Amino acid sequence: MNQLPIHLVVNKEDYHLFVKPNRVLLDVLREDLELTGTKEGCGLGKCGACTVLLNGRPVHACLTLALQVDGCEITTIEGIGGEKMHPLQEAFVDKGAIQCGFCTPGMINTAKALLDENANPSEEEIKQAIAGNLCRCTGYNKIVDAIHSCGCQSKKKKGGIK
Ligand code: FES
Ligand code: FES
Repeated sequence: MNQLPIHLVVNKEDYHLFVKPNRVLLDVLREDLELTGTKEGCGLGKCGACTVLLNGRPVHACLTLALQVDGCEITTIEGIGGEKMHPLQEAFVDKGAIQCGFCTPGMINTAKALLDENANPSEEEIKQAIAGNLCRCTGYNKIVDAIHSCGCQSKKKKGGIK
């Protein structure tokens, strides 16, 4: 199968790559770019472990063809926060919302998209937003608490959470 050229901006860095038409974004991120923070769970769009931000919106990288996102901006967990942890990451640690951590990158990306749109979501809105992200260990209360505490912080800070 022929490989085709694509250009991706991942975590604000430019990548010019050649990909087969059937290659999914998840494999390109993990195998070609070695950004292994994005996890593969089901590979079927059902667990949310592979959630990344595509132009700011959460998508399943396991169901997204790399060719489809030519020219797009992708954010993976490696691009969240910087030298310091992002407030969402701090909140997940503080509230005990991480056990094995497998679901955490996807959860945090989903939560970031929510907070970028709605700086102070209700618990119900948080539950709806993360309904497609499965966690096998922590249980959802601590995760919802962590996201909620961040929303409350962002209300106090003008301009929300970056
Ligand atoms: S690995 Fe993509 S949704 Fe499960
Ligand atoms: S912390 Fe283990 S799956 Fe969520």
